Amino acid sequence: MKILAIESSCDETAAAVVEDGINVLTNIINTQIDTHKRYGGVVPEIASRMHIENITEVIDKALSGAELTFDDIDAIAVTYGPGLVGALLVGVSTAKGLSFALGKPLIPVHHIKGHICANYIANPDFKPPFVCLVASGGHSHIVHVKDYNTYEVLAKTCDDAAGEAFDKVSRVLGLGYPGGPAIQKAAEKGNPDAIRFPRVNMGEEGFDFSFSGVKTAVINYIHNAEQKGEEINKADVAASFQEAVVDVLSSHLIDCAKKCGVKKIALAGGVASNAPLRRRVEEKSKANGFEFNCPPPILCTDNGAMIGCAAYYAYQNGEIAGSDLNAEASLPLK
Ligand code: KG4
Ligand code: ZN
Repeated sequence: MKILAIESSCDETAAAVVEDGINVLTNIINTQIDTHKRYGGVVPEIASRMHIENITEVIDKALSGAELTFDDIDAIAVTYGPGLVGALLVGVSTAKGLSFALGKPLIPVHHIKGHICANYIANPDFKPPFVCLVASGGHSHIVHVKDYNTYEVLAKTCDDAAGEAFDKVSRVLGLGYPGGPAIQKAAEKGNPDAIRFPRVNMGEEGFDFSFSGVKTAVINYIHNAEQKGEEINKADVAASFQEAVVDVLSSHLIDCAKKCGVKKIALAGGVASNAPLRRRVEEKSKANGFEFNCPPPILCTDNGAMIGCAAYYAYQNGEIAGSDLNAEASLPLK
């Protein structure tokens, strides 16, 4: 089954052709990062307009790269939430138009499920059940993936997402957008133990996250130093902030996996491209006897292939949308 998958939930216009869930024939990503960089973050209205400008070309490239035409496609899949509503609507409207014109089924895909499914593409032997940390610019969830279509959210953030914290701290340090890669690079020359930023455990069992406190702690640290006329070591601040986030994400993930009694652990989402996080979770997984899986960075950040993979399993579960499909900015994970 060949699925043409469309993703436009944030600042990447992406389309892919994926065969039988995990065979990625093409994965075209047009990122808007260079445009949003100058504003220090994603500007929703600009994102929507750029999706409109780019989506046709991205879909054409996804098809032509696989030497296919619309006739060869069995279904159209699209991310319908969560995300920026105007951005989502571009993908949803395009997918609805294609589905109607071609007479092919329309498969609605949850963005976070897409991130999780990137693990199946990366490693075809990796199968549920497992516990997955999904950390991106908009989400920080720990999810128990019981089977291909049964998800239980075990923990989430009470305020900022992990990626959002990277982006905000990077802005305060003057390191630019997106913050994750910039902080990771600056941190390479810093000491992760230089400053002890707070680690916060929220919720009844302490599995939930809060990143707004660590972000504020970094801002206060910088302001205090400025007021005293002291020089800030940006590399040390970046490394210590990253260490605090990696520490919290990895320990909550391992604790959740232990609680569920699963044997496997996975990572997903843009923050999962963070090399120290990948290393730490891999080390802790090994130490606790868990199998560890993580997609390559190109499948961690937003892309169409992960949506095509999730769509394959959603279709098998009977998830087909009609022409009334709408974008849902805060679509819950169920
Ligand atoms: O999954 P994604 O592409 O988009 C959303 O669904 O949000 O994630 C983007 C987020 C940004 O906040 C970015 O700073 C973060 O992922 N990110 C990273 C790294 N690469 C991207 N965070 C930490 N380390 C990285 N290397
Ligand atoms: Zn994403």
